[in-house]
Amino acid sequence: MKEKDKPIGIFDSGVGGLTVVKEVIRHLPNESIIYLGDTARVPYGIKSPETVIKYSRQNTNFLKERGIKLLVAACNTSSAVSLSILREETDISVIGVIEPGARAAVRNTKTGNIGVIGTEATIKSGAYEKAINQWSVVSGQWSGKKIEVASKACPMFVPLAEEGWFENEVAEMTAEVYLSDFRGKRIDVLVLGCTHYPLLKKTIQKSVGNRVILIDSAEETPKEIEILLRERGLLSDGKSRFVDFYVTDNPERFSKVGKAFLGENGLSRLSAVDLSNY
Ligand code: DGL
Repeated sequence: MKEKDKPIGIFDSGVGGLTVVKEVIRHLPNESIIYLGDTARVPYGIKSPETVIKYSRQNTNFLKERGIKLLVAACNTSSAVSLSILREETDISVIGVIEPGARAAVRNTKTGNIGVIGTEATIKSGAYEKAINQWSVVSGQWSGKKIEVASKACPMFVPLAEEGWFENEVAEMTAEVYLSDFRGKRIDVLVLGCTHYPLLKKTIQKSVGNRVILIDSAEETPKEIEILLRERGLLSDGKSRFVDFYVTDNPERFSKVGKAFLGENGLSRLSAVDLSNY
């Protein structure tokens, strides 16, 4: 197979990374994709960095064995704690979701006050804060005072999204409890730093108000993938395109939730895999 026709490998701790897959399919319809959802070990967001790194390595090894041309860590938690290690250890390009989200946040802020929400592990790592501050200097896009980043872990948003409770009373009350902290901080941009949070976008927007711009890392990442593939002459012409899905637990639940993301036929090639030997 020609290098450019090889698939893009995308992994996440479970079903949440399908927000990224959906955007990659929309933005780059010629590309083949192999998606791995580590459904047996989700959530990553409450685990130690060591454990997340170990799982991310196994996911990477599995996808590499399938001959991918580019690796995307669609999971924010994994991107936050393991991206630099995966980049060091892997001979193909690795894209995470933190940098695209951070760049979009810097591009959009006018006040220099940015909010970030994510899992406990992502917030604790400080990865968004670091990427936002680095990019504000490197890009020269922010010439005001130092950017202020206010972060908050919102762990309950993940089970709410998994349950399909995107806009009901429980979701609204949860958003209120987590996000009221941002009110005094005068943020004008809020980064949805977790695969699941875009599903609660309407509820989050209602809680923070319409003046705050929500940044969806899932929407930003395909733009970076395209730039990288174009630069390297690796964009596919789509002649032998396929989209394969692998999960580490029983595919039934993934299939149900996945159809809500990708439509009835979106998950026709779905199998279970055991990662213990990777
Ligand atoms: N995929 C994770 C993330 O984006 C959310 C779910 C989890 O905790 O594994 O951080």
